[in-house]
Amino acid sequence: MASPATLNRLQKKAVEQGIDLERLPSHVAIIMDGNGRWAKKKGWQRLLGHREGYKALRGALLDASELGIKYLTVYAFSAENWRRPEEEVSGLMKLIETAAREELRTMHQNNVRVNVSGRIEELPKGLQDALEHGMETTANNTGIVFTLAVNYGGRAEIVDAVRDVVAAGFEPEDITEEIISAHLYNPHHPEPDLMIRTAGEMRWSNFLIWQGAYCELWVTKDPWPEFGSTHLLDAVKEYQRRTRKFGAVVD
Ligand code: FPP
Repeated sequence: MASPATLNRLQKKAVEQGIDLERLPSHVAIIMDGNGRWAKKKGWQRLLGHREGYKALRGALLDASELGIKYLTVYAFSAENWRRPEEEVSGLMKLIETAAREELRTMHQNNVRVNVSGRIEELPKGLQDALEHGMETTANNTGIVFTLAVNYGGRAEIVDAVRDVVAAGFEPEDITEEIISAHLYNPHHPEPDLMIRTAGEMRWSNFLIWQGAYCELWVTKDPWPEFGSTHLLDAVKEYQRRTRKFGAVVD
């Protein structure tokens, strides 16, 4: 670990608050909920809430990277979100595409490796191209791995994994948990250790349901546009207070 003199601003703050930088969650996943309610409360359109959500995400990525988190995965659009009004769906698609293009230079400068998860082939072509370009440009970066889950569903991911396993010719008796895991969208990512959800619902919402089986949940009542470094540090502090048992007995 770096000496105190080489810690960055956020790491110093974390240490002051009692966070052990040696025991950070390696993979943090976020359900960014509450954009719509946040906007409605201000009398604004829902899409403006998503726009503010984009700003909060920019900050969260920077913070997670500064703190030393290795993987950050965010739920940008679920496979179920197509059920929203057409205007909101197309607005979100455009916003994610704009963000992917606008942020690429900064992410690349910050050594971020961009990645995606979900049925990407069903997305509008412009968005697919932007995501593809982001992944190609940052493929050799060695900093935080930032995964955008877009058109992502946990059950759909398991279905897609099982289809691949069957197509690869595995016999039923040879199929193990490890084999299913190896056919998920991002088999080389560690499982999430900490899942953050904003806006107070105590739900998992079909996010990383296979790989998140043992992750620790942390929920704040604050809506996603209000998420900031204090929330991230609070979540990590709480995570470090938990005893992870993975089904075993821990004294
Ligand atoms: C849930 O809030 C949020 C979403 C469905 C979209 C998340 C999108 C962003 C944060 C926008 C930026 C994303 C990127 C990748 C640039 P909600 O609309 O369900 O809120 P509500 O429950 O209050 O209605």
